[in-house]
Amino acid sequence: MAIFTIKTLGGESKIFIGSGIKDFINHVPDRTVVITDKNVNNIYGSLWQDYQSIVIEAGEKNKTLSTVDDIIKQLLSFGVDRSGFILGVGGGIVCDIAGFVASTYMRGVRFAFVPTTLLAQVDASIGGKNGVNIEGFKNIIGTFNQPEFILIDPEVLKSLPPEEVSNGFAEAIKHALINDAEYFGFIEKNIDQLKSLSCQVLNGLIVKSVEIKLAIVNRDEREMGERRKLNFGHTFGHAIEKITGISHGKAVSLGSVIAARFSMKRGYINEKEFNRIRNVYEKLGLPVEYNFDKNAVLDALLNDKKREREYIHFILLNSIGSAIIEKISVGELNQFQL
Ligand SMILES: NC(=O)c1ccc[n+]([C@@H]2O[C@H](COP(=O)([O-])OP(=O)(O)OC[C@H]3O[C@@H](n4cnc5c(N)ncnc54)[C@H](O)[C@@H]3O)[C@@H](O)[C@H]2O)c1
Ligand SMILES: [Zn+2]
Repeated sequence: MAIFTIKTLGGESKIFIGSGIKDFINHVPDRTVVITDKNVNNIYGSLWQDYQSIVIEAGEKNKTLSTVDDIIKQLLSFGVDRSGFILGVGGGIVCDIAGFVASTYMRGVRFAFVPTTLLAQVDASIGGKNGVNIEGFKNIIGTFNQPEFILIDPEVLKSLPPEEVSNGFAEAIKHALINDAEYFGFIEKNIDQLKSLSCQVLNGLIVKSVEIKLAIVNRDEREMGERRKLNFGHTFGHAIEKITGISHGKAVSLGSVIAARFSMKRGYINEKEFNRIRNVYEKLGLPVEYNFDKNAVLDALLNDKKREREYIHFILLNSIGSAIIEKISVGELNQFQL
């Protein structure tokens, strides 16, 4: 098992990678409330039958203040006070909602995560950001707050639909592309083992991704500079997700290929590198081309919360393993062949 320890404002946060899902009981107080979604509860619910639990509907459309409202009412009905403890068990949606509820309920209660999708294990549960959407604006309300622990068990990925596993690969490839050429090589070499969910290789992937995300977040906890690199593929990705309704991971894959093409156009990476990048997404079951409405995507992009005046901070690749943040004018984006 790999363990990371992070210093936080309130003390310490631990990440256990390769621990069994049921081991959460060794880390939570007796009166813990589990927040999970219906799918996860159907498969793993017996593990928390001795705890009070709140089961939400699955899906991005439920990552709303209305769900937060329902959860808070249930917490009140359970009599949870400031000494309460919330454990979010599920994908990125459950983690985002549970983290937001825990950060705001009674001005904040203790909390932790057991992420059960690859996307949540390598990305969404790590870094202390949580929040919900409002009217299709993603993560427009949220907090920065670290859970006390994150327990990651790659075995639970065996019950995850293959498409959801691919979504997680999109974020893992992102970590490699922006920070670590060797890690990119590891992914390229282990495509088959990754697709067949070899626990050993998945463990290696999760450890590497968590390490990279933690290092970047550590250097820039409040997203003033370097953390923006984690948005690689997400500027277009979020816009594509909004317009087409496809999953986050798929949209990020498309957005990453666009960003890589942009990097090639600017002469930062060559065609060979571009093709290596494109191939990895494709081989891991992610889309690299999609027939979306370019104007609608650009409109959505320009309405994104991260826009600063007439420029967009765009993450490009200097090479495989190294990202740069560039301000790109709206005019140039409009001209770019997506
Ligand atoms: N806070 C952050 O820093 C951050 C970073 C990246 C993504 N996100 C957010 O994460 C969300 C996406 O997360 P996601 O991709 O995990 O989606 P998700 O939470 O919707 O999970 C995907 C699906 O898999 C099901 N599921 C979860 N675990 C399972 C398991 N072990 N077996 C079977 N089914 C299982 C869920 O019920 C759901 O239907 C987005 O809202 C995105 O904005 C947040
Ligand atoms: Zn993402």
